[in-house]
Amino acid sequence: TPVLLTTRAELAEHLAGARRDGRRVGLVPTMGALHEGHASLMKCAREQVGEGPVVVSVFVNPTQFGEGEDLDRYPRTLEADLKVCEREGVDVVFAPSVEEMYPHGPGSAAAVMVRPGALAKVLEGRIRKGHFRGVLTVVAKLFGLVRPDVAVFGQKDFQQLALIRRMADDLCLGVDVVGAPTVREPDGLALSSRNAYLDPAQRRNATALSHALFAAQEEAQYGAQAALHAARGVIRSSPGISLEYLEITTADLAPLPDDAPRGFEARILIAARVGTTRLIDNLPLTLG
Ligand code: PAJ
Repeated sequence: TPVLLTTRAELAEHLAGARRDGRRVGLVPTMGALHEGHASLMKCAREQVGEGPVVVSVFVNPTQFGEGEDLDRYPRTLEADLKVCEREGVDVVFAPSVEEMYPHGPGSAAAVMVRPGALAKVLEGRIRKGHFRGVLTVVAKLFGLVRPDVAVFGQKDFQQLALIRRMADDLCLGVDVVGAPTVREPDGLALSSRNAYLDPAQRRNATALSHALFAAQEEAQYGAQAALHAARGVIRSSPGISLEYLEITTADLAPLPDDAPRGFEARILIAARVGTTRLIDNLPLTLG
């Protein structure tokens, strides 16, 4: 069973031995309410570090939630989370308090934070102002506390993964950032802790997001415009979906060039509200 640690001091002490013995340390950062998507990241981390310790952090990070977002009602299910971690052979669950992570307070005007670059101004960043600043700051802190050799993130949050990669590179953090594929329900819906907010009718309507992306994948052989058109068609004919964005970019989230050649690797990304619940998804596209 994993050991549950809540302080930075305990964490440092616990990992010192492994580091001294030269074992690789793996980190899977989460906000808890763990599901099979998170479990797949733990499996990936285990493959990366072999016998070395896998650390899962469970921390609902206040600095990445905007005004009026779901910080207060975000699901907190530590007991069940520990069971998932146990099943996946996780060694350490690090579940600090807000005070432990932000001793000067999460809103401290004096705090030094990570400023993301231009990549944080598009897509999610355009709608959730300050979100990635909070994400990168807490991930940088977790990297500092755990000092992992490898950290695993989901492609489900594709822009987040790209920004964390970029941060590790630009700030020379020495952490190998690994991206893992999106785990889906049988009907295509990407697993998300926020799916718990959906009532049965909304849960059915929510399949429109992934179905739109799959339709785009089918049409991508005819080019980006055809793919976008197919995806928009699915959303338009689906009840209860309020679209926030639906965009095709390069695989690095840059604007798609007009002259993208055959076989060009692109990405399609969607954000939409189902009732008040905000959902995101994305898939790779090979343009024809
Ligand atoms: P959270 O939403 O809990 O997600 C934790 C990790 O699980 C992220 O890397 C996310 O991309 C991955 N994940 C979520 N759903 C997934 C799915 N269906 N398949 C595969 N991976 C999935 O993302 C965060 O927390 C936070 O922003 C965090 C990075 C922990 C910083 O606070």
